[in-house]
Amino acid sequence: VIAALRRLGLLGLADAALSQRAAHEARAINASVRAAHTHITFPPAALVFEVQGYARLDWFMESGARQADALAALIGAHAPATTGPIEILEWGCGPGRLLRPLQARLGRRVRLSGCDPLAACVAGARRYVAGVEITQSRRAPPAPYPAAQFDGVYGVSILTHLPTGAAAAWMKDIARLLRPGGLAILTTHGPRHASRLDAKAAARFAAGAHVALTGAAQGSRTFASYTPPAAMAAFAAGAGLTILAHLTEGPQADAIGQDIWLLRKP
Ligand SMILES: C[S@@+](CC[C@H](N)C(=O)[O-])C[C@H]1O[C@@H](n2cnc3c(N)ncnc32)[C@H](O)[C@@H]1O
Repeated sequence: VIAALRRLGLLGLADAALSQRAAHEARAINASVRAAHTHITFPPAALVFEVQGYARLDWFMESGARQADALAALIGAHAPATTGPIEILEWGCGPGRLLRPLQARLGRRVRLSGCDPLAACVAGARRYVAGVEITQSRRAPPAPYPAAQFDGVYGVSILTHLPTGAAAAWMKDIARLLRPGGLAILTTHGPRHASRLDAKAAARFAAGAHVALTGAAQGSRTFASYTPPAAMAAFAAGAGLTILAHLTEGPQADAIGQDIWLLRKP
C-alpha cells in the first residue's frame, strides 16, 4: 500500500490522515503524561507524529531516554578528549526528544546545541529542552555555524530521509563543522532494513548504491533512503572522514533501530 501511495504522490495526504488519528488515539494517555510532568512543556502530538510516526508522549520520553543512553555510551567511548566541556551538535534535533535526556545524562561535561530546518521543531525543542541553544537551519548546507565549532555532531534518523546528493553534501558540511579528531555519529537504514525495498531497489542496494525512494517531500518522515556500506564509504571519502565503526546490531544499534556509523575527522 505504501509503495502504491508513494507512486501516486498520495503518501503525504495519507500520512496527514494517520497523524490526526494517532493524535486522537493518544489524547487520554498524553493528558496523563502531561499531568504527571507539569514542569515539562511537551511538543504537540501532531509534531511528535511528524518526526516519530507516533503521537504518544510516553513513547516519546521512553524512546528518547533509551536512545540517549546509547548516544551517551558512544560519546563517552569515542569523543575526543578536551580540556573544557565537549561541544556537541544534534543535527536535525526535531522537538528535542534526544537533547533533553542526553543533557540530563552528560551534564556539564558537554555543551549541547541543536538545529533543525522545521520552525515548529525549533520552537518545540526550545520549550521542551532548557539550556540548549537551538537554531533553525536550512534544508541545504551549510549549517549555521562556523567551521571547526564542534567536537561531535550526531544525527539520528536524518540521512534516512535525504536523497543521495543531499546526503553527500551534508556529510561534507558535518566534516566542516568538526574540529580535527572530532566524532560524527550518523544513523542510516542499512542491510537489515533493505528487506522493505522492492526487488529493483533491493538489487541497486545490493550493488552498493544509495537508494532514495521518491514520492514524498525530501527530509519528511515519509521520504525514505537506504545506505549500503559502499555508499557510506563513498560519502565518508568525499567528506574526508574516516569510518571508525559500523554498528548493525548490539545494544546501541538495537536501541536506535537503525545502523550507526561512527566517523572521525582526521
Ligand atoms: C525522524 S526526525 C528525527 C528527529 C530527531 N533526530 C530524533 O531522533 O528525535 C527527522 C528530523 O530531520 C529534520 N530534517 C529534515 N531535513 C533536514 C535537513 N536537511 N537537515 C537537518 N535536519 C533535517 C526534520 O525536520 C526532523 O526533525
